[in-house]
Amino acid sequence: MSRHDTIAVVDFGGQYAHLIATKVRRLRVLAEIRQPEDPIEMFSGYKGIILSGSPSFSSFGEDSGYTKAIYDLDTPILGFCFGHQEIAKHYGGQVVHGGREWGRASLHIVRDHPLFRGLAPVEPVFMSHFDSVVSVGEGFEELGYTMLGESEGGGHRYAAIGSDRYRRYGFQYHPEVDDTVHGHEMIANFVLGICGCTPSWTMERYLEEQVERVRAQVGHRSVFLLASGGVDSTVAAKLFGLAIGPERLHLLHVDNGLMRKKESRAVIGMLQSLGLGEHLHFVDAGDVFLKALEGVSEPERKRQIIGDTFVEVFEREARRLGIEDHLLGQGTIYPDTIETGGTKRADTIKTHHNRVPVIERMIEAGRVVEPLAELYKVEVRELGEQLGIPHDMIWRHPFPGPGLGVRLLCSGGAEDREGFAEIEPQVEALAARYGIQALTLPIRSVGVKADLRAYEHPVMLGGQVPWDRLVEAVGMILEQVPGLNRCIWNLGPAFPSSARPLAAGMTRERLDLLREADAIVMDGLQRHGLYDTIWQCPTVLVPLELDGAGRELVIVRPIHSERAMTATPAALPDALVEELRKGILALPGVSGLALDVTSKPPGTIEWE
Ligand code: XMP
Repeated sequence: MSRHDTIAVVDFGGQYAHLIATKVRRLRVLAEIRQPEDPIEMFSGYKGIILSGSPSFSSFGEDSGYTKAIYDLDTPILGFCFGHQEIAKHYGGQVVHGGREWGRASLHIVRDHPLFRGLAPVEPVFMSHFDSVVSVGEGFEELGYTMLGESEGGGHRYAAIGSDRYRRYGFQYHPEVDDTVHGHEMIANFVLGICGCTPSWTMERYLEEQVERVRAQVGHRSVFLLASGGVDSTVAAKLFGLAIGPERLHLLHVDNGLMRKKESRAVIGMLQSLGLGEHLHFVDAGDVFLKALEGVSEPERKRQIIGDTFVEVFEREARRLGIEDHLLGQGTIYPDTIETGGTKRADTIKTHHNRVPVIERMIEAGRVVEPLAELYKVEVRELGEQLGIPHDMIWRHPFPGPGLGVRLLCSGGAEDREGFAEIEPQVEALAARYGIQALTLPIRSVGVKADLRAYEHPVMLGGQVPWDRLVEAVGMILEQVPGLNRCIWNLGPAFPSSARPLAAGMTRERLDLLREADAIVMDGLQRHGLYDTIWQCPTVLVPLELDGAGRELVIVRPIHSERAMTATPAALPDALVEELRKGILALPGVSGLALDVTSKPPGTIEWE
């Protein structure tokens, strides 16, 4: 157990449960994720417990097999949504399937209570539930309610409940979501007030602790780390250097043939400038990766192959360099684990390269050391600053481990028009409402819907419409038409009337083409001063010909995000769009250009 006051966050599933932990950490109080069925001994020593929401229904008794002995502990417990309903039920209240609320609601606070200290009598909160609490047991009281509409018969719902005697509390809404405007204060009132936590968990302390942990885990061995040049592996490398010294730290930069233009050379220079050049090894393994990827177009298969090939190259290099008795160091961060389905209740959205089965087996065998595995990207950046890494290196855009491998779509050339008979008329009707054109594309990309992987069709839109209206139209289309998870906005000269996949694999020529297009985009963002305001901007090459042109489509995906678990599309200024049109459409082999205008969910940031 940590030396800091710590809150346990019980993860009942969903992609956002971890947000709660982040919000607690922002209060400088350590939060640890626990699984609902963890043995009761694992819940001892916490100053408070928070139960997350869940995709399960409390009213139907779903996911009720968790460690209920937590209710016997003398530790304050606060539940959100599903957690709130479970607390109500456990203490004799009733939960029914009904009373659904989506989005913003007004919380009316019933009385002055420490949980709502400093807040107004009515607070905007974010709701997303089907089930509701309709009565509470003895010893509990209603602390806040929301009003039912006339059509639902009037009356009100239990939106916040509590028992000061048992120190159990529940919020039907989600204070961890930014739409609950004072959610941060409500969480602070619980953590600092009711649980009495002392805010002592700082990045400085975290760093000290990780250094100790790494030393203890590594012992007399050495660490061999794959250094991509990305923020995570660079921060991990600096941390390892601090923990075990440069003599026992080996870095390997693999050019897998899927890097950006001139990237490997820049990465080597950057690692050297950070004082990490002592055992810095480089291998050009482009041929090995491209051979392994030959003829493969299914995204998950590509990811598995890239992950496996990394390990193969790594093991071979370790033998060649005579590095014995080493642990594999990785800069894995929390979303890598959760999106690979690494927590029990999360679906596999995408297999991240550092979570393929061989690596999972190495983790089980204690051969992997991952000091950033609990952190989100923002926290990794904060840690990087603590380690003295220059601002520009820390604020580089994230680049996925499988690199351009997941941005170069491949195809056998067959059209995939499954569901088009239902999709097309619905899309066209909705698009017409906004005065825009639409073309459903006979290919697929990966997305995420209701916490599940969605491999579905994109739609191309075009016409004259202001950005806000376009975003609204996209939201409407993706919400109402099943089978779609992405919209792109045509930047080509004319709106196409047909689209057909081209047979295309993972070849050097296509990778070079994508590298050129990507370099044009990155250069444009820098020149227009947008590199720092846009969080990430993948460029994707899709083997899809428009209007029988016989050449491919480039898609640019600028997004705003904070933790990569959600994202919104970013608008680009007209001048930059014009430059992209000129530069990219002039590339040989390209005849189409589009902007991805999808939020995450339902799209993911990367296309595969
Ligand atoms: P998605 O596409 O799932 O991406 O919305 C979320 C963030 O993760 C990055 N990403 C990866 N990073 N290995 C990584 O290190 C991977 O396999 C991987 N796949 C996606 C992606 O670029 C985005 O920032």
